[in-house]
This record gives sequence, structure tokens and C-alpha cells, in this order.
Amino acid sequence: MDISSAVLNRRSCRGFKQEPVSEALLREIFSLAQQAPSGCNVQPWQVIVVSGEKKDQLKNQLMMDVMQKQKPYPDFDWSVAYSGKHKERQFGSADALYSAMGIERQDKMQRNIAMMKNWAFFDAPHVAIFTMDKYLNLMGAVDIGIYAQTLSLLMMERGISNCMQGALGQFPGPIREMFDLPEERGVIFGMSFGYADNDVPANTARTSREALEEAVLFAS
Ligand SMILES: Cc1cc2nc3c(=O)[nH]c(=O)nc-3n(C[C@H](O)[C@H](O)[C@H](O)COP(=O)(O)O)c2cc1C
Repeated sequence: MDISSAVLNRRSCRGFKQEPVSEALLREIFSLAQQAPSGCNVQPWQVIVVSGEKKDQLKNQLMMDVMQKQKPYPDFDWSVAYSGKHKERQFGSADALYSAMGIERQDKMQRNIAMMKNWAFFDAPHVAIFTMDKYLNLMGAVDIGIYAQTLSLLMMERGISNCMQGALGQFPGPIREMFDLPEERGVIFGMSFGYADNDVPANTARTSREALEEAVLFAS
């Protein structure tokens, strides 16, 4: 698969087959992703790949934490309130997902149930948790974004799908506890991944993109 096809065909996956990725393939993907660029080559990513029983335990702890605490307590500032065209696009992506799942816009309960699937990793066999030293702030966040997309495309090339999840940075407590993270390290976001189950309705969701002229100015 060439890079253009990977970019064109990649989409967020929210339903997976119960078939783990082999350890050899996991190691191959994550070692290649080490080549991702970062500002001054600081390589801020400290990634935890969770699978098997540990992943199930983490899922249970996260679901409990979300239900008990209700209000997110992220390690990093995710508090942007989208407005204008950004808000419209946010609605557009939610609409694409909930329509694919057959959930009405007003059906708050079903939407909440769908949201909870984030912390069950959409039943994926693996989840990658991206952490970094908190003081790195915006610079680190940019690097981690680039790292995550590098990882995503390497997965695509091998027939593996994923969903990046800001939701996994919203309730960092169980991750901090399970992996004994020091206070200076924060959970920024995560990525559930595995082989896509194309029979899951959520996986039929399609998002759109703006026209090139909306996004890019070619100046000369
Ligand atoms: C940084 C980041 C965080 C995201 N967080 C979530 C999330 O918490 N839950 C979710 O279902 N999708 C999440 N997504 C997926 C986006 O909703 C998705 O990429 C967007 O709607 C475009 O759709 P596509 O990936 O299918 O092209 C996230 C994507 C990114 C890049």
C-alpha cells in the first residue's frame, strides 16, 4: 500500500475482530514508529501498549472511574469549546457516527452508551496509551500527534485499523495507578487498534473534508 492510498483509505475504526495482532507485528510497527520526527528530536512519547488480561482489567477500572467521577480530570488542557465552523464540523462528525449507529440526535441515553464504548476500547484487542512529561506542554503535544499519525499509517499498511481517542486522556487515574506513572508524567490520549470488524455499524460512518481552498493558501 502506498502512502497516498493509506491516507485516502484510513478512517477511524470503532469495532474490531477478536483477533490479536501478533507480538512480532506489534514490535515491528512500534519500532518503525520510533522514526517519527519531533522538535529537536526530543521524542517525548512514552507509550504503553496494553493487551490481553491487562487490557480487560484496565477497561473495567476505566469504566468504573468514568461512572463514579463523571467529570473529566485530564492531565492536559483539553477544554477548548468549539465555535463557528469548528463546531459545525464537530457536529458533522458526531452526526456521521450516530447516524451510522442508528442513534437519533435527541437520544441522549444511547449517545451516552455509545460514548462509554471509548473506555471499553471499542472491544479492540489492543490499546496504545500515549503519555509524556507534563512540562513539555504544546511542543510535546505536537510531537505526539505526529507520532500517532505515523503509527496509524504503519498500521494501515499492515491491514490494522485504529481509533485515536482523546477520551482516553480524560480519566487518567486508572492508567496512572496500573502503570505506576510518576506525577510528572501525563496521559495525553490513546489509540485502540486491531483488525476491523466491518459488520459493526459504527464502522460505516464516513466523515467529509473541506475543499482545498478552505484550508490551504498557495502563495508565490
Ligand atoms: C486527537 C484525536 C482525538 C480523537 N478522539 C476521539 C475519541 O475520543 N473518540 C472517538 O470516537 N473518536 C475520536 N477521534 C476520531 C475523530 O472523531 C475522527 O478522526 C474524525 O471524526 C474524522 O474521521 P475519520 O478518522 O474517520 O476520518 C479522535 C481523533 C483525533 C485525531
